[in-house]
Amino acid sequence: MKSEHNSGRKIVRMTKSQRIQHVILFVSTTLLVLTGFMLQADMWLIELFGDYGEIVFDIRSWLHRASGVIVSAVCVYHLIYVITTKEGKSWVSDMLPRIRDAVDAYQNVMFMIGFRKQKPKLDRFMYLEKLEYWSVYFGMTIVIITGIMMWTEYLWPKFYLEVANALHLGEAVLATLAIIVGHIFSVHYNPHVYPMNRTFIDGMISEEMMKDEHELWYEREMKKSDEPAAGTSDNDKH
Ligand code: HEM
Repeated sequence: MKSEHNSGRKIVRMTKSQRIQHVILFVSTTLLVLTGFMLQADMWLIELFGDYGEIVFDIRSWLHRASGVIVSAVCVYHLIYVITTKEGKSWVSDMLPRIRDAVDAYQNVMFMIGFRKQKPKLDRFMYLEKLEYWSVYFGMTIVIITGIMMWTEYLWPKFYLEVANALHLGEAVLATLAIIVGHIFSVHYNPHVYPMNRTFIDGMISEEMMKDEHELWYEREMKKSDEPAAGTSDNDKH
């Protein structure tokens, strides 16, 4: 970390609503991954559970569907949240891709391989965070539509179901890998946060990390006030 001293000051990065949405997404997606991929190893797993194999697989099937309903509900809620609330509008507007993100990405790569002395000043959400956020919209749209199709299989011709199944499985693999690689780095192995980034629990980011990883945002918030409220609305009850 660049800062020579640690001020101990913390700033709100995720509000209570955002943390609740995130935890629901996290728990339901984990359940979806576990109960979904169990199907890929069905015979082996059924034998592993012995006499309970069939029951375990029935529970798996219902857990997958129930988590699917929960994840769909949180996605719909999130859409309403970003359209109707001040804090949601600010969130999504700061997430919109801009030309600057491509410049940031280029400059950051140059910095990391030693062709640039200074790293770019990144905003509230940097290009990788934006990519991850919009990938969830893309991925969830695919798994929700194809999941509902497989759930209501009696309504669809065989060919449509096969396509839905291939898309569902493909997106499930992609999403699982993206979560494992992207999230495990940003939540655990990023040297600024190791062994664990607690922002998703307490909603706070340290002043040092904000300055180092989101310098542009830091400077803007500092200009606005001595007590920055991190791009959130006046009534954020952290
Ligand atoms: C991140 C989200 C999700 C992941 C990782 C995921 C993963 C999977 C996987 C790996 C399979 C097995 C495919 C195969 O073996 O051919 C599957 C099947 C299925 N999924 Fe999902 N899924 C997700 C979301 C959903 C949602 C949102 C729904 C419903 C709205 C859903 C409903 C289904 C259904 C009905 C099946 C058919 C087989 C079964 O589980 O009984 N899935 N899913």
